[in-house]
Amino acid sequence: MEKPTLLICDYGSQYTFLIARKLRELGAYSEIIDGRSTTTPDLSCIHGIILSGSPDSVKSSTAATIPTWVLASEKPVLGICYGMQLLSHSLGGSVQSLEKREYGRELLKLSTESSDLGKQFFSNTLSGQTVWMSHGDDVRTLPRDFEVLAHSESGAVAAIAHRTKPWLGLQFHPEVHHSEQGLSLLRNFAEKICKMKLTWTPKGIIEQISENLNRTLKKTDKLILAISGGVDSTVCGVLLTKLLGKDRVPCLFVDHGLLRQGESEETFTKLQELGLKVQRLEKGELFLKNLRGIADPEEKRKIIGHTFIQVFDEYVATQTGFTHLVQGTLYPDVIESAGTGSKASVIKSHHNVGGLPDHLKLTLVEPFRYLFKDEVRLLGKELGVPAQLTLRHPFPGPGLAIRIVGELTAEKIAIARKADHIFIESLRQENHYEKIWQAGVVLLPVKSVGVMGDERTYEWTCALRAVHAVDAMTAHVGELPLSFLCKVADQIVRNVPGINRVLYDITSKPPATIEWE
Ligand code: XMP
Repeated sequence: MEKPTLLICDYGSQYTFLIARKLRELGAYSEIIDGRSTTTPDLSCIHGIILSGSPDSVKSSTAATIPTWVLASEKPVLGICYGMQLLSHSLGGSVQSLEKREYGRELLKLSTESSDLGKQFFSNTLSGQTVWMSHGDDVRTLPRDFEVLAHSESGAVAAIAHRTKPWLGLQFHPEVHHSEQGLSLLRNFAEKICKMKLTWTPKGIIEQISENLNRTLKKTDKLILAISGGVDSTVCGVLLTKLLGKDRVPCLFVDHGLLRQGESEETFTKLQELGLKVQRLEKGELFLKNLRGIADPEEKRKIIGHTFIQVFDEYVATQTGFTHLVQGTLYPDVIESAGTGSKASVIKSHHNVGGLPDHLKLTLVEPFRYLFKDEVRLLGKELGVPAQLTLRHPFPGPGLAIRIVGELTAEKIAIARKADHIFIESLRQENHYEKIWQAGVVLLPVKSVGVMGDERTYEWTCALRAVHAVDAMTAHVGELPLSFLCKVADQIVRNVPGINRVLYDITSKPPATIEWE
């Protein structure tokens, strides 16, 4: 952390990432660390610390405690939900379990008398604002020297502050959309209490990345960028080409044979048009060979990751002097692969997270490792990357491999590709593409009986997946008209031999994920 930062100690709340995103939207750079970590981080750039919510109760014997460095740091601290209970409990207040969990909207009653800290925190917000609660415990008695800044309508303690130290707590979640003035509270905490300048803008991000590259790279270093044609690696390529010059950042586009219809050619041409120095390697057969007989999703992902490395390894061996491999890895990829070291479990091993084998002797450069996708889109816009590219739906690095449930065959890839093409083109033609965050077709290992032209069929099933999302950490079902979905289903069954049944996946994330594997 080399820039002014708000540090978020994560205790496992589903909203921790939302806190980070909302702060960044406000212009305050934030990072998440494991709330249980006892190692003191470098505090020189830390302006304040946020303690997240948690599914745990502070009264449980296994509950996390506040690491001693947090309060000893003398930095402003904001506890949110479990974070506020933790603050109270650790400092001698009492926390009790509620008979019934409080979940949903509440009205906030601000105290008329509060210290300067409380006034600053709630400045420009109104009493009676709607806030969003989700908790099973609450604070009954305050620790010494604390005051109540606000109650909920039912009388529960909703906001607290220390009388002399910059320590605050909120029982509700300011980061969620339903807390009306939550963003103002986060802004007040960052700007007025932590004294941060809200400078985290696309221009600021570019300057920061440029400074980092200048500081870490030598003039003699030779980079190679792994490019897929997706938003992240493309914007990364455009940015580094602009900062370092085309010849210093050659791009290698590995076509793993698991791309969408026509995408390999289209991507290759587009990247050249964007002024990148790009070379394409067609390696579909190698990937398919390595994946033969493998049905387990995690194993498939790992094989794809290893095969990419194998291809790079072989390529680099034929060239001289490469010292660094650049990737467009994003923060959520790192988080979901549990790369922050936090309590979060490994949901999926993203194909590009996990480091490089020692023998490759390339240093990994990941300029976007701490960015969310919408931040990369803004960067792309700032760099003049056409909207057609920055607004393109995300497509996972492992491609169709994780959209064909179970074992892959060349025949299944062809079926999935054809069905996907029909779905995506229909979304475009009927002006739904831009209203949906991501869409694709999942081929299921399920055969069922159908009837076509008086003939019995016994063929595969596919599921259409379309979601609304902001950063892929959460998603909900894409609200597409039933008549449109029926039309797509009809087109697929008529035009894709091998599929005789089409489903629509209506599950949110969580509890499901966007991709099926
Ligand atoms: P899930 O399935 O975890 O997906 O809800 C969240 C977002 O990440 C994309 N995704 C990946 N992208 N490499 C990538 O580049 C991967 O291994 C990978 N796995 C999932 C997915 O398409 C969605 O946008």
